Amino acid sequence: MDLSVINPDKTASALKTEYVPMANQNLSSAKTAKNDEFYTQLHDIQVEVNAYLEYDPDVFRGKTVLLPCDDPEWSNFTKFFAQKFQTFGLKKLISTSYAPESKKYKYGYQPSLFETNDPQFDEGKTQTHGKIFVLERDKSGDGRIDYQDIEWSYLEGDGDFRSKEVCKLRDEADIIITNPPFSLFREFVGWIIAAKKKFLIIGNINAITYREVFPYLQKNKIWLGATGFVSDMVFGVPKGTIVKPSDKAKAERLGYVGNFTRLGNSCWFTNLEHGRRHQALPLMNKAENLKFSRHKDIKGKMDYERYDNFEAIDVPYVDAIPSDYEGIMGVPITFLDKYCPEQFEIVWRGGDIEWCEKECDFYTPPSKEKAEYYKKQDKTWRIQNPYILDDDGNARVVYQRIFIRKKQ
Ligand SMILES: C[S@@+](CC[C@H](N)C(=O)[O-])C[C@H]1O[C@@H](n2cnc3c(N)ncnc32)[C@H](O)[C@@H]1O
Repeated sequence: MDLSVINPDKTASALKTEYVPMANQNLSSAKTAKNDEFYTQLHDIQVEVNAYLEYDPDVFRGKTVLLPCDDPEWSNFTKFFAQKFQTFGLKKLISTSYAPESKKYKYGYQPSLFETNDPQFDEGKTQTHGKIFVLERDKSGDGRIDYQDIEWSYLEGDGDFRSKEVCKLRDEADIIITNPPFSLFREFVGWIIAAKKKFLIIGNINAITYREVFPYLQKNKIWLGATGFVSDMVFGVPKGTIVKPSDKAKAERLGYVGNFTRLGNSCWFTNLEHGRRHQALPLMNKAENLKFSRHKDIKGKMDYERYDNFEAIDVPYVDAIPSDYEGIMGVPITFLDKYCPEQFEIVWRGGDIEWCEKECDFYTPPSKEKAEYYKKQDKTWRIQNPYILDDDGNARVVYQRIFIRKKQ
């Protein structure tokens, strides 16, 4: 069997799975369909995984790693972990793919030579069934376990992560690693958490505020990965995908020419330990910030602005958090990238009406008349979002905020 198709030394373009440009009439439907086809680059996987290994060189030793929602024939996740199987001391590597027919975004998938040349190839299944790739033994007998030893077969179903057979693989695994479909991110997180598994997954920064995610971040059961989300991630896309010119240009500037796009708002979510999250943020105290801050809306001010509906100060920049402030502070969601649980505690987030009404003891809603007035001024105004009153009594809603407090 020719397994060179998943040889990690080959570039994506040299791989045998071909992405055929879609017919023009499909392009417009691709625009409207929620596209989940974004393929993670080897460099991003390497940099992220290295942080966990630096913290604990045995993090993968003796472990079964599952890579669901993948395309094992050419996925960089599969290539990376198969190549490092022995170095990491893995017990078993399993990857599963989703059937081309089931994908929302149809890009004219054609089976690879790897598949069609294999006696197992089944024309009736190639479009409608997912595949499973397993690596656990030295099948080739060359004295080492690597991608040459991967064994594959069709799944019984389409490879949906929610299917019984993939759930069974999840239950068998110790660690789940992937870039799941963005459109099903909430469900995917729930799927992992239900099985109490260790994981490392890519998601959108805005997922921080999801009901299914935020409570775990607040309780330090989930945290952001080691690669900060300030660094733009670039993803491969099927040939013919409509990519925003500015994202394509950005990907090109980062050295990815061809079928790539940059998604500036992606980051890793995990419950695997990486030491970086315990490094306290170096911060100035309040007086120093007001005197020396590099931000002109802080430097030279008498004090930080206060919200009208929350008893808290507004800190619009993470590097402007005053180190000596004892009360509650509203900070941008990018704070989570620098969050050290020994330095701060996360109280909750703005924008959650249920929490405001039932649990928050530092929330005071405006009167009904005032609320109507603010709403007329700004349609985006919401009673549960932190806002600041200007000198003329107009409400200015601030962008998404997380409430934090200094650890004693
Ligand atoms: C964001 S892509 C990432 C692919 C690969 N993990 C990577 O990082 O390169 C997510 C993949 O999940 C597939 N997918 C979509 N819905 C799925 C589902 N319900 N179950 C399993 N996979 C699904 C998509 O077709 C897509 O190929």
